[in-house]
Amino acid sequence: MTTPTMPPLALDTDAGETVVCDPGSYWRVAPHAEGYDHGRFDNVKGRLYRRAEEHALAKAIHALTPGCHVLDAACGTGRVSALLHHAGFSVVGCDVSEAMMAVARRRVASVPFMQGDVTSLPFPDTSFDAVTCVGLLMHLDRGMRVRALRELARISRGFIVVQYGCLGAFQRIKTWLTGRPAGAVRYPVAAAELQRDLRRAGLTEVSRFWALRPFSSSLILVLSK
Ligand SMILES: C[S@@+](CC[C@H](N)C(=O)[O-])C[C@H]1O[C@@H](n2cnc3c(N)ncnc32)[C@H](O)[C@@H]1O
Repeated sequence: MTTPTMPPLALDTDAGETVVCDPGSYWRVAPHAEGYDHGRFDNVKGRLYRRAEEHALAKAIHALTPGCHVLDAACGTGRVSALLHHAGFSVVGCDVSEAMMAVARRRVASVPFMQGDVTSLPFPDTSFDAVTCVGLLMHLDRGMRVRALRELARISRGFIVVQYGCLGAFQRIKTWLTGRPAGAVRYPVAAAELQRDLRRAGLTEVSRFWALRPFSSSLILVLSK
């Protein structure tokens, strides 16, 4: 009799990058959660990227007035939640991983964090002025991405900020030359696929901010219903 093998949570590329295959489980593992910030941002490339991404995010939320009630979905270790909190918003963080939120609670004790899946959030319709979802959609297949977008739209009164991994010509050539997935994520999209997701979720693009174009595929989008 053969023992069934579990699909891997992540795969390591030959360049030493980790491509997450099962985002709903990978970051529930305590060492992955505890090591997330250090592994992702504690080097020159990570610091540069983080600065550019947070600059793009700050531009995306510019139109929101302080005091707004904001949900940070897939909040992870609370990096974006802390940024929103310090910008004067009333923030709630939500994630499937208790291990990630344990780090988030240490980072910003005054923000409430609760467990929830972005495709089935534990909040009534239109309960937030705005929702953010950073660092998740590029790990989800098309079906999950659209379910997540619809759910974010359901709980938001209209303002939705998400991040995509969106491939331009530079990334496509790099992937073709190196054979490595762009941005070390499983589901980066081309521009046409992104537009298809938005149509299927019934959302409209309001504005877009690239984090470190053309070197990064990271794209911050402001969407409306
Ligand atoms: C790459 S981390 C991003 C964390 C944070 N937003 C940031 O930008 O630093 C992705 C997060 O998504 C969470 N996640 C994965 N699948 C999820 C789901 N279905 N619903 C909610 N969160 C999910 C993971 O637990 C993890 O904390």
